[in-house]
Amino acid sequence: MEHLAITGMQRLAGHVSVNGAKNAALAVIPAALCAGGVCVIDNLPMIDDVKSYIDVLNRLGARAELLDNHTLRVDPVHVAPVTADFDSAKKIRASYYVLGAMLGRFGEAAAALPGGCNFGARPIDFHIKGFEALGAEVIVEHGVIYVRADELKGAHIYLDFASVGATINIMLAAVNAKGLTVIENAAKEPHVVDVANFLNYIGANIRGAGTNTIRINGGERLRGGDYTIIPDMIEAGTFMIAGAITGGDVHVHNIIPKHMESVSAKLREMNCVVDEDEDSIRVRAAELLSPANVKTQVYPGFPTDLQPQMCALLTTVQGTSIIRETVTDNRFQYIGELERMGARIHVDGRQAVIDGGAVLSGTDVSASDLRAGMSLITAGLAAVGETRLANLHYVDRGYEDLDEKLRSLGACVERRGAVKSDVGSYI
Ligand code: EPU
Repeated sequence: MEHLAITGMQRLAGHVSVNGAKNAALAVIPAALCAGGVCVIDNLPMIDDVKSYIDVLNRLGARAELLDNHTLRVDPVHVAPVTADFDSAKKIRASYYVLGAMLGRFGEAAAALPGGCNFGARPIDFHIKGFEALGAEVIVEHGVIYVRADELKGAHIYLDFASVGATINIMLAAVNAKGLTVIENAAKEPHVVDVANFLNYIGANIRGAGTNTIRINGGERLRGGDYTIIPDMIEAGTFMIAGAITGGDVHVHNIIPKHMESVSAKLREMNCVVDEDEDSIRVRAAELLSPANVKTQVYPGFPTDLQPQMCALLTTVQGTSIIRETVTDNRFQYIGELERMGARIHVDGRQAVIDGGAVLSGTDVSASDLRAGMSLITAGLAAVGETRLANLHYVDRGYEDLDEKLRSLGACVERRGAVKSDVGSYI
């Protein structure tokens, strides 16, 4: 099986450009199913999840074709409401957006229960409650969710948690519901705003995206259009942290610095020099970094998708650091692997106490999900000797050209074939 070999202790320095946002792309692509004409979506990251979604769209009858490596043309005119329970749909969690988009457009939809990264229970009850509030009947049977409505009607929906997926899915259905839908306690993440901007661009009437309350006046006639996806804040944060763990000087380009505020603030608190300009951030690590307490929160708080990478960094920083994970359950699955590299971490429920200053050493490790894999790569960059990361397919779901980008910054990373390990399941 393919793995990534990282020879650690190389200082990262130089310039790197981030791609379009994975979690925006995985919502804007299905949002094109709502469109009344051809959409051209630009700045897509060419990652495995996006490739799977292109397959999902084609199987639904949309003509989705890549014009170049980052530009997708979608002609949704011939889409039919078939059940999306094929392999490509099962692989990606975000295939649940097919439900909202198709329910709105056809009054019915069916999709396999979502797959995706495997950390903790990730139910979709808020999505279902939202569809029901809009007047749909929802049935879950044999691993497939069926949604159907004679007529979707706007509704007032309060989310118990500011769920990214539920907010977007309800928006997708509500643009085709009759009348006003109000989502209270809506997610405010930049990718939620990106989907709203795309839908507005093709004719929808959505106000308030980026705040707690989103108002959607449904029933507008949607057309096609061209749209450019926002930059990936998680990829950007990953390179900022990777620079810091190697004592480096990394300049991250093609980003929206405002999206990075929680990450920049935390790195500054730890003694990094973080300079921003219009669309880039430069992170220079001091010789001695300070420990930090990190609490993941919904946007604009510190993102859960950077928690594992930040944990890797904190294991190397002298002193005690604490991470509190408040967004997802059980997102500490990578910690056992970090401990095998020499990290000292005590996990108690949703809290990890890190006894920092560990000298990490490379070994064979395995990714249990996308960001877990990225945490281990981050640790490997600072470790003594060689780290070999198996289950690389998780990382390929979310990072385009990761190894090339790391190499361009001076890292010593290489993709190789089967890993020789006495842990059989890695092979
Ligand atoms: N939740 C529920 N019920 C629901 C929906 C969510 O209990 O109906 C819970 C989840 O189980 C989780 C929390 O609420 O504990 C947050 O879930 P949310 O719906 O906000 O997350 P998501 O839409 O499933 C997206 C990203 C994740 C990212 C989270 C949080 C996509 C495709 N995925 O997931 O990205 O961690 O928001 O920001 O947009 C990643 O990129 O590595 C990744 C996992």
